Amino acid sequence: MAPDEKVPDPQTLQDSKPERASVRELHLPILREMREPHDGREPIPLWVTFLFGALLFWGGAYTVHYAGGWRGDVLEQNPRPYGVGAAEAGPVDPVVLGEKLFKAHCVSCHQAAGQGQPGQYPPLAASPWVTGEPAQLKRIVLHGLEGPIEVLGASYDGNMPYFAARLNDERLGAVLTFIRQAWGNDAGPVPPESVAATREATQERTKSWTVAELDAVTEPDWTALPPADETPPADAPPPADEPPAAGDDR
Ligand code: HEC
Repeated sequence: MAPDEKVPDPQTLQDSKPERASVRELHLPILREMREPHDGREPIPLWVTFLFGALLFWGGAYTVHYAGGWRGDVLEQNPRPYGVGAAEAGPVDPVVLGEKLFKAHCVSCHQAAGQGQPGQYPPLAASPWVTGEPAQLKRIVLHGLEGPIEVLGASYDGNMPYFAARLNDERLGAVLTFIRQAWGNDAGPVPPESVAATREATQERTKSWTVAELDAVTEPDWTALPPADETPPADAPPPADEPPAAGDDR
């Protein structure tokens, strides 16, 4: 390979310059008239910018106007009062709250009219377990019930779930108050304090009750118990006077 073959002769380049220029000139009119179409790099038209600006502004204004103060409860149809001013809002009607809770937690088994389902779920309407002493009733919903039970002449042997962990004293009291007054039932309310007292007295309980155990239960009047927030004197065993759960040793 001779080196002089590869290296371009400067003289030759010099000579070709005018030729290149003439080629460019020749193409100029063609380039001017037949512009290649292209896309992707067009600037955004001004009116689109303004339109989006206006939309953004309107959206922001709309959101701020209808934000309801950014409160978590604005969409709540029956807001439950809390925080500052809750006291002035007045107490919740336990029967109204109880009906809601019944529909959420009990209706799937005990049915809308409390009639239960033959052979499977006992009725709550007219049931003496519901309208009788609340001591047994509170225990049934707090910890559940299992084993054979007779309600209004029919026998059942199922498993009633427990609600101690799911419903607080106020809610349990409300749902019990509701079932004691619905569908022709006519028994007194079960106030939250009453549920609290039983919950406290049976806090060791971890399994469902049986009818035999419930039959053995007698409960002191909850109104005689010290309020929940007051620590009872050391010499008075507070809920220890509760009946010993007959089946705990089983
Ligand atoms: C998963 C179905 C189910 C759900 C939900 C349920 N129960 Fe029961 N419940 C039963 C079964 C089954 C029995 C009978 C248990 C047995 O045979 O020992 C029962 C028994 C009872 C009893 C005593 C028997 C009677 O009919 O009077 C009461 C009271 C009661 N449930 C109230 C409630 C309340 C209040 C709720 C809602 C907070 C509720 N139950 C939710 C299934 C359910």
